[in-house]
Amino acid sequence: MANKEFDFIIIGSGIAGLYTALLAKEAGSVLILTKGSLDECNTKYAQGGIAAPIGHGDSAELHFKDTMAAGAGLCDPEAVRILTEEASDRITDLIDLGVPFDTQFGEVALTREAAHSLPRILHAGGDATGERIEVTLSRAVHDSKNITIMEHSLATDIIVRDGIAKGVTAFDSRIGSLENYISSSIILSTGGAGRLFKLTTNPDVATGDGIAIAYKAGADITDMEFCQFHPTAIRLPGIPPFLISEAVRGEGGTLRNVEGHHFMPDYTPDAELAPRDIVARSIVAEMRKTGSERVFLDVTHLPRKTITNRFPTIYRFCLDRGLDISKGLIPVAPASHYMMGGVRTNAYGETNIAGLFACGEVACTGVHGANRLASNSLMEVLVFSKRIIDRAKGETPKPVKSSTSESRHTLIKRSTSGIDTPLRLAMLQSLLWDNAGIVRSKEKLEEAALVLAAWHNTLGTPTDRPYYELCNMVLGGRLLIEAALIREESRGAHFRTDFPEPSSEWEKHIVFRNED
Ligand code: SIN
Repeated sequence: MANKEFDFIIIGSGIAGLYTALLAKEAGSVLILTKGSLDECNTKYAQGGIAAPIGHGDSAELHFKDTMAAGAGLCDPEAVRILTEEASDRITDLIDLGVPFDTQFGEVALTREAAHSLPRILHAGGDATGERIEVTLSRAVHDSKNITIMEHSLATDIIVRDGIAKGVTAFDSRIGSLENYISSSIILSTGGAGRLFKLTTNPDVATGDGIAIAYKAGADITDMEFCQFHPTAIRLPGIPPFLISEAVRGEGGTLRNVEGHHFMPDYTPDAELAPRDIVARSIVAEMRKTGSERVFLDVTHLPRKTITNRFPTIYRFCLDRGLDISKGLIPVAPASHYMMGGVRTNAYGETNIAGLFACGEVACTGVHGANRLASNSLMEVLVFSKRIIDRAKGETPKPVKSSTSESRHTLIKRSTSGIDTPLRLAMLQSLLWDNAGIVRSKEKLEEAALVLAAWHNTLGTPTDRPYYELCNMVLGGRLLIEAALIREESRGAHFRTDFPEPSSEWEKHIVFRNED
């Protein structure tokens, strides 16, 4: 490699990485490091769409209120204000880049999703929004002279000197060697950690690498206990938990238990359109009541044409597996979907390490609080990517000031003698699913905390990508479990049977920093 020094290094190639790269290239040379091929990312599986208050009767104020309500008291109002006020301009940017949003009667078509007051979700290709965005952005990136792409390069460490990020070490998995790359602006956009759980809508790449390397470098990691479980992923033996978009309920899909009963109105007046955490927990309660591993999503009352036009990907996925959803019920159950927590940033995507930024699911900007409002994540990426590059171009990055509403921690050392459970990916995923899933308790969390700490103590030096990822997942899993143990209340997506109510004492964020 001749050139190892760049104005910007971007780690990850989902919408956050690609969009940031396209903005950054106007200001200097850009390196994208991505651990697989450019198109291996979570973005392309996003179905429902992207939220923006552009419809008739909508406003940034209304979008702000809905986002704050879903976040259950932990959203940062400044971040939500920014998100909702800058959203419309970012949609214009995507249209200018060529993203083919669906239209109706000559205007951008909008659908409704749970906990939004009105239709506000733009979509493309019916239910292929993420894929259309990813394809459009990756074409533009490939056409850009100022962007170098290093595929199969897994970032293993942020190089930090005197509290300032200076570069990135990356493992080239094709030749098995480590390389250092130098930059004064490093942007983490590695996505989330949905693969921590046995059942997830996320692809294999979602192993929380960015959270692990940021923690090792000394970045603040926050809100890790808040993992969003999507209420409706396909649940059939031998079939991965494929996402059935929330937009299906937004268009009128109803949930029935195995006995055919339409149960959501029994739990909340908002029924299918209640926030995701409520729908997911109601489904779990219903599955327990009926002794079943699934409930059913019913769209058979919708016109067939509506189903095939609005949800061609879902329709085709099911049909290929022998289920015509216009005639039969879709077997579904919750699955892990999105991490609200991550690397703590301010309103410019800056972390507490000067020169290190985070954007997208790896980041915790404060817009999602304890429970993300559907389709706010793609918009968060666009809004904060733009702010990161504006900041990096304009001023010397400054560290984030600590806020007072936080509880600070470092990962505790646990005595793990006598625990010799072998570390395997499937065991880790089952442990997180069984002990730190939708319904949690002190007993189950403590059991998992000990096993994870034992695994952490015995980690060796990685020599291949799967082992690097496994080490990152052990660290990410520990941060999640320890945060869930500390938060002795229930709020948003974090529910504990031993503390089933929210507590005003816990209207604060749990922050971890590695003090080694
Ligand atoms: C979905 O289509 O239900 C997913 C959208 C999101 O996670 O925001």
